Amino acid sequence: MALVLGIESSCDETAAALVDSDRRIVAQRIASQDAEHAPYGGVVPEIAARAHAERLAPMIEAVLADGQMTLDECDAIAATAGPGLIGGVMVGLVSAKALAMASDTPLIAVNHLEGHALSPRLADASIGFPYALLLVSGGHCQILRVEGVGQYRRIATTIDDALGEAFDKTAKILGLGFPGGPAVERKAGEGDPGAVPLPRPLVGSKEPHFSFAGLKSAVLRAHESGKYSVADIAASFQQAAVDCVIDRLRVALLQMQDVATLVVAGGVAANSAVRSALLQLASDHQLRFAAPPPSLCTDNAAMIAWAGVERLALADFIPDPLDISARPRWPLDPGAEPVRGAGVKA
Ligand code: KG4
Ligand code: ZN
Repeated sequence: MALVLGIESSCDETAAALVDSDRRIVAQRIASQDAEHAPYGGVVPEIAARAHAERLAPMIEAVLADGQMTLDECDAIAATAGPGLIGGVMVGLVSAKALAMASDTPLIAVNHLEGHALSPRLADASIGFPYALLLVSGGHCQILRVEGVGQYRRIATTIDDALGEAFDKTAKILGLGFPGGPAVERKAGEGDPGAVPLPRPLVGSKEPHFSFAGLKSAVLRAHESGKYSVADIAASFQQAAVDCVIDRLRVALLQMQDVATLVVAGGVAANSAVRSALLQLASDHQLRFAAPPPSLCTDNAAMIAWAGVERLALADFIPDPLDISARPRWPLDPGAEPVRGAGVKA
């Protein structure tokens, strides 16, 4: 049995967790920085890095105490090494390096996206490779064919905003506060999803890529027109977003006819309208549908520790060197073709 300490600090969540190879989350703690960033309506990198630096060391101590474990009992220390806000990533990675060096424990530098991609397997032992993955968070919006640990084929990406970003920007336009996703979902529950005519960008196109910038602009125009209630705009936006996701996935699934499972991960996977539409889509395609519990969908350290457990179990596992760099960008599928019309975020 292997035990891994995981550390996550790539955005605005400081988190540490102990996870074992029996899929037990032995201990975990997570500190959100929502209150620090809320006045700015978004994550401020400098504030995030400082908050990680202040909180991480005591949090790791607390997690070890919660789990009644010592560092020496850990088989590896796994930390997010990118992609993300570089200051925060460096805080987590440097802490992991120091602990690895002091305790002579292997270091595993984890791609944050790989953490999300493998998180469904932490929640459910029966999910085998390959599977189709919709990865939708604040910074990422991709469809991937997950072929194995470290083996990912990107089928689709966004040419502009990520889906979580579209939720966050919609919340900002509608004055619903930060973080936006859960606020938009709550407000949408009070509105009529058919009330506001909104575009479904790229729906019907042959490539399965996403685009949400035009939807966000349409939300702004609808709000400024003064014709619609905030609840109706929120509900109509959420419906448009769901329609885009389902249409794009239908196209993507044509390229993955050998998969048996459709999996969703990332922060937006916590959205129940998204989840129920995906459940329906999976059943239409005779696929199993798997979604980790919402607490494993948003950023957390258990998924990073789990990615470490998965890496450790590989026959050709080698620890990462202590001089490995933090990476602001780190695609899961470096060989994927750039998308025509894509902005810098793709
Ligand atoms: O995975 P995550 O915690 O961080 C990133 O790696 O980005 O995802 C955060 C994103 C935010 O954009 C947030 O608004 C969105 O996930 N989100 C949601 C919901 N909960 C979180 N979006 C829609 N509905 C939700 N319930
Ligand atoms: Zn994330």
